[in-house]
Amino acid sequence: MKNSFITFEGPEGSGKTSILKAVEVYFKGLNIDTIATREPGGIKISEQIRQVILDVENKQMDAKTEALLYAAARRQHMAEVILPALEKGQTVLCDRFIDSSLAYQGVGRNLGIDEVLALNQFAIDYKLPDLTLFIDVPPEIGLKRVFSNDRAVDRLDLESLAFHQRVYEGYMEIIQRYPNRIKIIDGTQEIEAVVKQVVECIESFFKE
Ligand code: TMP
Repeated sequence: MKNSFITFEGPEGSGKTSILKAVEVYFKGLNIDTIATREPGGIKISEQIRQVILDVENKQMDAKTEALLYAAARRQHMAEVILPALEKGQTVLCDRFIDSSLAYQGVGRNLGIDEVLALNQFAIDYKLPDLTLFIDVPPEIGLKRVFSNDRAVDRLDLESLAFHQRVYEGYMEIIQRYPNRIKIIDGTQEIEAVVKQVVECIESFFKE
């Protein structure tokens, strides 16, 4: 698992952030040198870009501007955090990565998967994750969770259910494109059961 780049994806309210944290604790307990980070953000410049993107006041943001800002935040995060960690031999767990842009901007915003992929390849130097866990929760259940917990609601949470359904369909299309890299995890169960599934999936992936 040395030098492995593992990403976590899913719709709003899929629970991936808590799941990722539990997986980090588990791997650290096994003395695997692991770092956990998130997109958009993880470091100062990218967190600043995140604030601009997710600000509920920025209603007039153009879809291409949004895609470019996510790619810019990703580039900086890649250069400052992910690539140096992988070079040191660490295992990187990242909350969202390029597949979020393909699903949200490519399909949700109708910019096209190929167009958003091309834009992002420039940002990531063609470095895709080794493994991606898609935490599968239907968008209506995920959104209900978001609005019933106390995390601040952001500009993308406020999009229509139709938008979030398109994003979900987008993920399904991306999973078909990358069946070896992206694994589906049932995210509707209790968190302990989901974490168990994720750990088993990662361990069996790297054993093969
Ligand atoms: P989070 O809620 O998982 O922290 O993600 C923030 C929001 O940004 C979420 O609505 C998904 C969205 N997003 C995109 O639209 N494109 C991207 O490339 C990324 C990384 C996130």
